[in-house]
Amino acid sequence: MITLAVELWPTTVPAPQIIPKDDLRELIRLRENDKLPVTIETQFQRRPLFDNTMTKLFEPLRIKDISLRNRIAVSPMCQYSSVDGYPNDWHLVHLGSRAVGGAGLVVIEATAVSPDGRISPADSGIYYEDHVESFAKIARFLKQHGACAGIQIAHAGRKASTNKPWDGNDHIGKEQGGWDTIAPSAIAFGGKLDKIPREMTLDDIARVQADFVSAAKRALAAEFECLEIHFAHGYLAHEFYSPLSNKRTDAYGGSFKNRIRFHMETFAAVREVWPARLPLLARLSVNDWDEGGVTLEESIELVKQLKAAGLDMIDVSHGMVTPNENIPWAPGMTIAFAARIRREVDIATTTSWLITHAKQAEDALQAGKLDMVMLGRELLRDPYWPYHAAIELGSTASRDILPIQYARAVE
Ligand SMILES: Cc1cc2nc3c(=O)[nH]c(=O)nc-3n(C[C@H](O)[C@H](O)[C@H](O)COP(=O)(O)O)c2cc1C
Repeated sequence: MITLAVELWPTTVPAPQIIPKDDLRELIRLRENDKLPVTIETQFQRRPLFDNTMTKLFEPLRIKDISLRNRIAVSPMCQYSSVDGYPNDWHLVHLGSRAVGGAGLVVIEATAVSPDGRISPADSGIYYEDHVESFAKIARFLKQHGACAGIQIAHAGRKASTNKPWDGNDHIGKEQGGWDTIAPSAIAFGGKLDKIPREMTLDDIARVQADFVSAAKRALAAEFECLEIHFAHGYLAHEFYSPLSNKRTDAYGGSFKNRIRFHMETFAAVREVWPARLPLLARLSVNDWDEGGVTLEESIELVKQLKAAGLDMIDVSHGMVTPNENIPWAPGMTIAFAARIRREVDIATTTSWLITHAKQAEDALQAGKLDMVMLGRELLRDPYWPYHAAIELGSTASRDILPIQYARAVE
């Protein structure tokens, strides 16, 4: 007999139990007859519910003590919908929908470690103790619906203090709610982001690193189970890494060793407070697509060092540190970088960038190039991508990806 694991929440109802599939119909009947408290109705938690061994995409993935029900992650995506850092009902529904849609891991958008680390005044942030409860509400919901709750913590450096993308993506002044920016060197990004940042002092560096540590502690308090440090996309850490944005002559600039000092120190400090049992990821732009920028070879060395410091998985990304980059856009364009890092560093890898088809994702996983796929825009287009992917890959039980409230209806 096929058994389905259905965990009931909250704890006022019997402890998690295994319910034979046929009994589910009885549960549904009880709910339809109002015999079960209404709170339960929306709170069925899903597990990997069908024989996952047929595909790699739906094979559970264990990272440290966390088991993901499949290898589909929601890539962090800024929503520019917060006020003073607080996530709200938009985030709950947006992220919750992707958990309900079946993703194994949902990573909350770049969440600033300090107010000046926000890209825009509408970014989410985790710099007040008070932020914890707002995030905890979301983390709880994601977990109740079978996804691992993850969060990306970030500082935007010289790319901070902008308006929202749909308002132009320009730097804004204080009169529009902006602020003075900081960066390794006093060099503007360029183009519409022309604000010249203040070169960070050693005290600034120590302060931002302490902010990352506090943010990690708060993420833990909010019961997230996966933490990603944002070292990519031309934001603060990447600005230290790239010779195009870092012209310092002290211990944080110049040589490769100096340019990765910010990463190594920040990572070690965060790892210390982020429990060893929980996955710690970093997103890295592994190349700059611009002359004189960082190279994949350097990034392989950086990932080696991060692995030795306790990195559990590298999230391979690229570029965005200058406006002059020349990117050869193509489907799955960063998979090859991730594969090389996986091979040469022997570390779990994930990547995003134009992974849109189930077969494309499955092939990359089967070929041992990746351990998990991150989807951004395709999951915005279709929160039920995991369900549709299972159908495309020939699952005979794909309906079980849907929450019971829906699955019973489409059976
Ligand atoms: C609306 C939007 C917001 C994004 N915000 C973030 C972010 O907060 N942090 C980050 O590392 N990447 C961010 N990205 C990049 C995505 O996480 C992802 O890497 C990128 O979109 C490529 O994946 P895709 O081709 O599946 O969309 C964002 C992308 C989009 C479309």
